[in-house]
Amino acid sequence: MYQHFYQRFLQANPDKQHFASHSHHYWPDVTREATLAYWDDSASMVDDKWLHIFGQVIPQTQQLIADILNLPAPEQIVFAGNTHELVMRLFSCFDLSKPLNVLSTDSEFYSFQRQATRLAEFDNIELTSVPTEPFASFTERFIAKVKMEQPDMVFCSQVFFNSGYAIADLPAFVLAVAEVTDAMIVIDGYHGFMALPTDLSAIAERVFYLSGSYKYAQGGEGCCFMAVPPGNNQRPWYTGWFAEFGTLAAEKSALVLYSNDGNRFAGATMDYTALYRLHAVLLLFKKQGITVGRIHQYVMQLQQAFLAELSRQQHPLLNQQSLLLYRPDQHGHFFTFKLASTSEVADLAAFLKNNGVITDYRTDRLRFGFGLYHNSDQFDLSCLKRG
Ligand SMILES: Cc1ncc(COP(=O)(O)O)c(C=O)c1O
Repeated sequence: MYQHFYQRFLQANPDKQHFASHSHHYWPDVTREATLAYWDDSASMVDDKWLHIFGQVIPQTQQLIADILNLPAPEQIVFAGNTHELVMRLFSCFDLSKPLNVLSTDSEFYSFQRQATRLAEFDNIELTSVPTEPFASFTERFIAKVKMEQPDMVFCSQVFFNSGYAIADLPAFVLAVAEVTDAMIVIDGYHGFMALPTDLSAIAERVFYLSGSYKYAQGGEGCCFMAVPPGNNQRPWYTGWFAEFGTLAAEKSALVLYSNDGNRFAGATMDYTALYRLHAVLLLFKKQGITVGRIHQYVMQLQQAFLAELSRQQHPLLNQQSLLLYRPDQHGHFFTFKLASTSEVADLAAFLKNNGVITDYRTDRLRFGFGLYHNSDQFDLSCLKRG
């Protein structure tokens, strides 16, 4: 139904069923032209390309993202090459020589998890991780812990990368957290953006929302973003000269100046090819009327068809019993199967790969992701009968 947007990736991988969409989505064909457009703009405009990028491409991309997330102020969106850079910039809002209490979960992606764990090796920095399981009581337990700990930073995913479990009502969740703390609240929305319909209008003033282009936004690696609450006046000490845009003409001061918009969290010169690709995909979907709501409906149908195909195989390991699915209406766009061990998962993933079924795994969890480039009538897991 949507496969015509993905001719190049599909043609390049004719015998594969690519179920790692949650990790690295296939790129629509428009991204190829976008990549070339960046080169062409560099050649034709040379130094003046920056006027074009900062005057047109970035504001348009900010607007497209703001429309999807229903954010009131597009200029509050700042770009970076990856989320880790943005996570580090958030940490750098704090004086790390003073006590810092960070409250998070046991299921955050490594960009946060590894950095936070490393920082917590310092005596003054404390990291508390609330288990996501059991899912049924997660939000209640998390909010109670925030209330008790009174942390400086709260960091939580919208959809957890190691299960697919999603916070059902993100605005209500953030407002409930904000009710009990003044802490910085950060949501890692990488598995939510362009997958689950998300309306941030009610919490835009309160939350830092992180996401990027490589997964459901389909623009490839190298373009992540963060929505910064309007009016934010924090001064990250990990700061690049792009964070000064809008103040460059200001009177020279001994103090380091910051932009009044999302750029106060910016770094420095980067390759904007990836932003061109993201811009091209979001524009394509907008023109075609492909909303996140439509994508989500389509993927939920794919997921049902996948489960039906899986149950036909009667596989001893890969089945409804090993599937971590708390509730279909609180789930992201990939399924996670929890097996007995990491090696069992690795062996099964390798077997599937040898049979043209591409998945990915994290420790003892095998993940199958879905996207617009799938057609449910092409799902074929019959290799499992042989394995
Ligand atoms: C929840 C989540 N956040 C962030 C990332 C990417 O992080 P980074 O852009 O720092 O590589 C991923 C990638 O898999 C992820 O699953």
